[in-house]
Amino acid sequence: MRKPSIAPSLLAADFGNLQRDVEMVNASEAEYHHIDVMDGVFVPNISYGMPVVKAIQKSATKPLDVHLMIVDPDRYIEEFANLGASILTVHYEACTHLHRTLQAIKAHGMKAGVALNPHTNIMLLEDTIQDIDVVLIMSVNPGFGGQSFIENTYEKVKALKALIKRKKSSALIEIDGGVTTQNSQKLVEAGADILVAGSFVFKSDDPLKTIKELKG
Ligand code: DX5
Ligand code: ZN
Repeated sequence: MRKPSIAPSLLAADFGNLQRDVEMVNASEAEYHHIDVMDGVFVPNISYGMPVVKAIQKSATKPLDVHLMIVDPDRYIEEFANLGASILTVHYEACTHLHRTLQAIKAHGMKAGVALNPHTNIMLLEDTIQDIDVVLIMSVNPGFGGQSFIENTYEKVKALKALIKRKKSSALIEIDGGVTTQNSQKLVEAGADILVAGSFVFKSDDPLKTIKELKG
């Protein structure tokens, strides 16, 4: 069985001990640090902004997977490149000129990600899939950690995998929201490459072990 990459979401970290939690991810088998930036407009919640991302970047030894849940993300592409983001993911629903946004992200040396809300059909990526490095499928409505996984995600992942194949794209499939060991294997079987997990990792008794278990 193919093993997925794991991206622990620091939204569920203990912000009073952020460095400790980033170092836990450094020491783990995870591949990325998943960083959720929310603006209180695109989603009903505000998470954290640039100073916190900078603090994370200082202690992080793995690539930063930055998930922007903000309107008009083009305004901040350069800033996130300077903050050391490796993957910069914008929401399909927040981009009027998605193709241009993807080119701008790549021109700044980052991998370009596109996130889809649960209601957004994967076929809307038909004309951009060859320009995308990572498609992030939201398996909960974005804005909060700790929600339960939407079961329709499996079908969506399979359809996306077929689209990627048909279009000869090299895009990776990332799943975000409600990921646990209850659904991780089935997601990988459906075609997922990267699994994001917040609460399941950070609220567990042994996060290092939990990350290992998510890899399967
Ligand atoms: C939700 C965020 C997720 C969140 C996942 O809007 O994009 O990355 O942190 O948290 P869990 O794994 O707790 O659902
Ligand atoms: Zn996220």
